[in-house]
Amino acid sequence: MDKPMVEENKNILEVQDLVVEYHTDNEVVHAVNGISFSLEKGKTLGLVGETGAGKTTLALSIMKLLPKVTGKIAGGSILFNGKDLTNTPENEMRMIRGSLITMIFQDPMTSLNPVLTVGDQIAEVVEQHMKLDKKGVEDRVDEILKLVGIPAERKHEYPHQFSGGMKQRIVIAIALACDPQLLLADEPTTALDVTIQSQILDMMEELKEKLNTTIIFITHDLGVVAEFCDYVAVMYAGEIVEMGTAEDIYESDKRHPYTVGLFQSVPNLEEESDRLKPVDGLMPDPVQLPAGCKFHPRCPHCMDICRTQVPEDKVFGTHRIKCHLDF
Ligand SMILES: Nc1ncnc2c1ncn2[C@@H]1O[C@H](COP(=O)(O)OP(=O)(O)OP(=O)(O)O)[C@@H](O)[C@H]1O
Ligand code: SF4
Ligand SMILES: [Mg+2]
Repeated sequence: MDKPMVEENKNILEVQDLVVEYHTDNEVVHAVNGISFSLEKGKTLGLVGETGAGKTTLALSIMKLLPKVTGKIAGGSILFNGKDLTNTPENEMRMIRGSLITMIFQDPMTSLNPVLTVGDQIAEVVEQHMKLDKKGVEDRVDEILKLVGIPAERKHEYPHQFSGGMKQRIVIAIALACDPQLLLADEPTTALDVTIQSQILDMMEELKEKLNTTIIFITHDLGVVAEFCDYVAVMYAGEIVEMGTAEDIYESDKRHPYTVGLFQSVPNLEEESDRLKPVDGLMPDPVQLPAGCKFHPRCPHCMDICRTQVPEDKVFGTHRIKCHLDF
């Protein structure tokens, strides 16, 4: 199947005022609450924030893979090369997924099929999305395995015959098999030990250069973001509270109080990091979010206005901070 025609422009992705909810029995979970950002082709955006911030929900929304009955895009738009995915029908999305946009899921070990050889699993994706004859598919499988550092001869083996790090490389190989324009990597290295983690990151860096793939890299590891990403977005309670270039986030003297907390929680970069636990208190219940600034119950700088008025973004060139403080 040919890749669907999608008009090219400078920003591969433009998310505007995105609102995503989960509707369970009697409750509405406000998981993403008005997110806007854009991303240029070939760039990498690091998405960070504590557990429950809405990172995976944002990625699943872009893939249009929210749970069918409960998950709902309740507002906003997701422009992918100018085309709004929020109203793109499922049959068209099926062509876009796997060929133009792919995702490495948060628990990659479960995304391999134990009863198919890894070669067959890569071939399945290639056959579905690229117009190649049998020999072409075989060659592509060999090429993509080589690209992720696995000898092509091993394509006849099953997932259980590979180590954890190799399985992860295969998951990445499947995500990259059709040269996607946009790769959503949801904590792709979290389950791995530090040495393999850094090998995989080096490999993704190489791939980024070779294929010019745009990447959204979700992680709780700020060291990885510093090394790997052009832009950083900090998420809290379904919002982007701060966003900028890596330099803006790491070197500026202006910082959102939540980001200050995140940075203070960074353990030694050489050590394996635990889940982020930046500031005392917990992420608010997304069923009942606080009024005003959603971070106010935990913020050491909370003022009266913060309890009632939602802060606007303050913009400093490429850097934006959602906070009432004067910077
Ligand atoms: N299928 C679902 N039904 C109901 N609520 C959900 C569902 N999936 C996620 N949520 C809720 O939505 C909020 C955002 O979850 P999400 O998985 O996007 O967070 P995350 O930032 O990816 O967290 P983590 O770092 O733990 O992966 C959380 O409060 C979560 O409990
Ligand atoms: S708006 Fe107020 S409560 Fe929210 S982060 Fe800024 S200072 Fe803290
Ligand atoms: Mg997640």
